[in-house]
Amino acid sequence: MGILIKNGTVVSATESRRLDVLVSGEMIARVGEGIREAGHEVVDATGLLVMPGGIDVHTHLDMPFGGTTSADDYTTGTQAAAVGGTTMLIDFALQSQGHTMREAFDVWRAKSRGKACVDYGLHMAVTDLGPGDGSQGLREMEEMVAEGISSFKLFMAYPGVLMIDDGLMFKVMQKAASLNALCCVHAENGSAIDIVVEQMIAQGKTAPHYHALSRSPKAEAEATHRAIALADMCGAAVYIVHLSNEDSLAALKFMQGRGAKALAETCIQYLVLSLEDQMPGKSWEEAKYVFTPPLRERWNQAPLWEALRDGPLAVVSTDHCPFRFADQKELGRGDFRKIPNGGPGVENRLQILWHYGVNSGKISQERFVALTATQPARIFGMERQKGRISEGLDADILLWDPKAEYTISAATQRMATDYSMFEGWKVMGNAAKVFSRGELVVDNVTHPGIFLGTTGRGRFVKREANGGGLGRG
Ligand code: URP
Ligand code: ZN
Ligand code: ZN
Repeated sequence: MGILIKNGTVVSATESRRLDVLVSGEMIARVGEGIREAGHEVVDATGLLVMPGGIDVHTHLDMPFGGTTSADDYTTGTQAAAVGGTTMLIDFALQSQGHTMREAFDVWRAKSRGKACVDYGLHMAVTDLGPGDGSQGLREMEEMVAEGISSFKLFMAYPGVLMIDDGLMFKVMQKAASLNALCCVHAENGSAIDIVVEQMIAQGKTAPHYHALSRSPKAEAEATHRAIALADMCGAAVYIVHLSNEDSLAALKFMQGRGAKALAETCIQYLVLSLEDQMPGKSWEEAKYVFTPPLRERWNQAPLWEALRDGPLAVVSTDHCPFRFADQKELGRGDFRKIPNGGPGVENRLQILWHYGVNSGKISQERFVALTATQPARIFGMERQKGRISEGLDADILLWDPKAEYTISAATQRMATDYSMFEGWKVMGNAAKVFSRGELVVDNVTHPGIFLGTTGRGRFVKREANGGGLGRG
């Protein structure tokens, strides 16, 4: 016997309909009108929206960065995701220079083993193709695709740590094009930014605020155009991560208009937080908002929302990279270069996007589903498994209560940070129940904020190389 979700409204990327959903084991067995109860366990979804579980394609769990390690490991990070309605993450494995991608793959699989609580995949961040012409690294890219890693991350920022030069980036893009894999790019001109950073420090401008001022939107826009142009030269599909401002959006739209296979995401923080509001240059507290790209002037938010509604931006992720304020952000007191870059968000993505997007009329509930689940699944090569309420797919199901009122706070969150970027914000719309492969793992009505499943139940998802869902060529 299965689980029958009745009386809810099933929301897809294109329509909303009163339908029942029958779950059998780990899969969605049927979606239709008036499915008979016939001994199934019935879940009454009256007043609720039945959506595909959220997919956050940009997280950094248990990641060494900035002299410390991100505060959420695979257990707290995936549990926080689930509590917020997200049932699948794609995290980043980082290849270290002088080491192979295989080593990075093994390290990240070990980090998640026995710990992941919802399903997850990995992108591979490439920093080194090995000696000589790089053929060893290029062969490894083939191996990674065979392992189900169909997206490669390229950093144009963080010189001396993760940044690669244009030549290496172009080689990886050529290979990705031949494999039909997707190139994810952190687009910022790291070399120019580094010069500004050193000049600011020399002038005694060491507070968190200067981290933001040192990273011009133009440095992001220039790199966005360059990354897409290089990818277009070799026919690779490219996905710009954490696009934060209107100049970069203009570069994206220009290249999309020229037929480039270019996709992009923005993150919740750029939609609702700003330089003026969170980073006015008044206190050390602003270190909580030091992430890269930085917060932008508030006027950038409207064009980002429009691009989410109209299509140039295809996904909303979090870039969840959490560091505690008390002891980790503290590393950079007196020198913003040493503040670990990143913020916590995986638990709040759906609440923020719903409240500030759907409730305010900026996007429809169908677009919400497209941006948080359906498009992430298609772009990242897992639409046969996830991202829709459809027969034969994994039963990753979110019962969303559009009327639930919730106050975001570090005191009640599952994320391991000692602060929230949205402390005290009151939102309407929250996950009521969350099923991961047919198992009820969160019931925020009866057990708010508690993960009900077994630790370690999350599985690694192998993804297809599908050119970002844009076809081959
Ligand atoms: O500040 C950020 N975004 N930290 C995580 C690493 C990255 O650039 O995505
Ligand atoms: Zn980045
Ligand atoms: Zn990131």
